[in-house]
Amino acid sequence: MIKFNLYKEGGLKVHFLKKDETIEEFKSFLDKKEFSGKLKEILYLPSANEDSHVFLGLGEDEIKLEDIRNIFFDLGNLFRKNKEHEVEIKMPELGICNKKTIMAAYEGLRHSEYNFTKKSDAKDEDFELTVNYSAFKGPEEKLRQGLDTMENIMDGVFLARNLVNETANIIYPETLANIAKEKLESVGVKVTVYEEDEIEKIGMKAFLNVARGATNRPRLIVMEINNSDDEKMALVGKGLTYDSGGYNIKSPSGMNFMHCDMGGAGTVIGTMYALGKSKAKVNVVAVVAACENMISGTSYKSGDIIDSMKGLTIEVLNTDAEGRITLADAVHYATNDLGAKKIIDLATLTGAVTIALGEEYTGAVTNDEEFYKEVLEAAKVSGEKIWAFPYDDAYKNLNKSEVADLRNTTGRDAGSITAGLFVGEFVKENTPWVHLDIAGTAYKNKAEGYLPKRATGVHVKTLFNLLNPTDC
Ligand code: BES
Ligand code: MN
Ligand code: ZN
Repeated sequence: MIKFNLYKEGGLKVHFLKKDETIEEFKSFLDKKEFSGKLKEILYLPSANEDSHVFLGLGEDEIKLEDIRNIFFDLGNLFRKNKEHEVEIKMPELGICNKKTIMAAYEGLRHSEYNFTKKSDAKDEDFELTVNYSAFKGPEEKLRQGLDTMENIMDGVFLARNLVNETANIIYPETLANIAKEKLESVGVKVTVYEEDEIEKIGMKAFLNVARGATNRPRLIVMEINNSDDEKMALVGKGLTYDSGGYNIKSPSGMNFMHCDMGGAGTVIGTMYALGKSKAKVNVVAVVAACENMISGTSYKSGDIIDSMKGLTIEVLNTDAEGRITLADAVHYATNDLGAKKIIDLATLTGAVTIALGEEYTGAVTNDEEFYKEVLEAAKVSGEKIWAFPYDDAYKNLNKSEVADLRNTTGRDAGSITAGLFVGEFVKENTPWVHLDIAGTAYKNKAEGYLPKRATGVHVKTLFNLLNPTDC
């Protein structure tokens, strides 16, 4: 729990120092410790009977919001480790708007609170932190509103992380739908959950084929916020609550984290939560086609030729390339039936995206440069990295099948591009579309900066900032 007091004093004092800057009072201490003010350099001076102090380096270059997130993440960890429950931040003017600065500071502190564990002896104790912002100018109402917004965004990020970190014995289509409904309705988002017979009536034949093998039956989750006259935007998240690969079974090591295959769903649910809680004036519909990709006598098989809601036939050459099949119906439904005029889909779609970009960048495919630029801008503001692959008919042709309209796998080459373009075939014509392959960024093999190992909740911030940008 973090409590922010504005224009207040008291507690451990945090001093920010530019490179080679010093404070007369502490000069000999800083010299002795060889504190030089390098960016993110941190020095702790605890005291039992007087004020404790922390000195923080700001370096010599211009400070960026991402630096502030990182610095406050480190500070949050230091406060927790040393049980410093009340701190006074003497934040200097940084040349960034104060509202965005305080939001980034809050964000960094919140990131330091995230923890996901199932250890039986784990203590569920909440670290209470009171932050007094003393030297900080700006109208209180604006700064407060910024803090509230960032609290809502981070609630959305943590919801996304928790949904993705929970394993597939806990999160399956039914429970995912229940949690989405419960969480989102509590913040005023309209949620409709369709069961199998209704999904059949809607005509999502491709999606249902992927779902065929599982005992846990699929759900279609539709989430809506409609309180603006803007063009409706769709957010579609891949919702494979488990991906065994199906008959093209995965290797043991490739399978044991495949509860993360609803990372796209986690992000869109987290985003809708943050938007709902912020009472954002937006017109957005989110769609998750949730199912498991399993092996059984009823599973779809490699070689099957299946139908789709759009009417395009699909030759299934690999049952492990299931995400694009479920997304095919979901993006068609969102743009043809739900009236979305723009669409973003997010999916842990291909291992190939990690070959191309590692865990650093999300890989994008888009049919609309203008729309992509808006998404990219929102991602930059959020400190989330996206890189667009080329959009080219030459790659589209690879998705053509000899016997059906499309095939669900091509060769090894350009795997993330062909997978994205496959999904694009089902988006209504002339609809601006951005596809984000988050297989590398939604679930990490190692912690990095303020992002934890495992689920990251990537792009909740991007989507929120795209739909509801923060002014200064
Ligand atoms: N869910 C996987 C992709 C994935 C890989 C997500 C690693 C997260 C981490 C997806 O359904 C898949 O299996 N893709 C195949 C496609 C291939 C069969 C064309 C892959 O990437 O190997
Ligand atoms: Mn798969
Ligand atoms: Zn998958």
